[in-house]
Amino acid sequence: MNNEITGFKNFYDHMIDQLDTKSSWLEVGAWLGNSITYAANESKKKNKHFNFTVVDQWKKYDELANFFSIEEWNNDLPYQTFLENIKSYDNINYRRGISWEVAESFNDNSFDFIFIDGAHDYDSVYKDIRAYWPKVKLGGWFAGDDFRKGDFPGLEKAVREWSEEIFGSRKAVQRFGRCWMIRK
Ligand SMILES: C[S@@+](CC[C@H](N)C(=O)[O-])C[C@H]1O[C@@H](n2cnc3c(N)ncnc32)[C@H](O)[C@@H]1O
Repeated sequence: MNNEITGFKNFYDHMIDQLDTKSSWLEVGAWLGNSITYAANESKKKNKHFNFTVVDQWKKYDELANFFSIEEWNNDLPYQTFLENIKSYDNINYRRGISWEVAESFNDNSFDFIFIDGAHDYDSVYKDIRAYWPKVKLGGWFAGDDFRKGDFPGLEKAVREWSEEIFGSRKAVQRFGRCWMIRK
């Protein structure tokens, strides 16, 4: 996970440069807020006034179960830590729930950039990318983390299949470092 936490930075730097100053940015999978506070800090340094939203369930599941003890999970510590980490940012909003269900609460065509970094299994990625693609504005960007076959074969499979379904080519999605991305 430590490795994971730093790996998104190049891609987020790139997106901060790409996006207009008043852009809306949605991150699916916020965990403790490391990546979204990085985006908030770096965009501010570049005089960009983005509005951030994150979606997360902050609930114990296999991939992250070992990062906190049972007692800490029972005390909702991941969520409390996230809240603590974002408390000084007035441009980070959050919604708690199952990502593809929360998607229904957003209007279509409402975000300039959506980044998918929730669960990494095939079924979850399948649902996330279908639920959130309609929420990207025309001309906006859609992307996700951990596009590495060796580590997450289900994730890459889900993204490639979706790419073929929507664009007629498994290779329509581009690779940027360890991320995948496509413009709408
Ligand atoms: C890899 S972590 C996100 C890391 C974060 N973007 C960062 O770089 O600091 C994945 C997150 O997705 C969340 N998650 C996984 N499955 C989810 C689901 N179905 N609905 C909502 N959140 C989910 C987990 O709670 C976890 O916080």
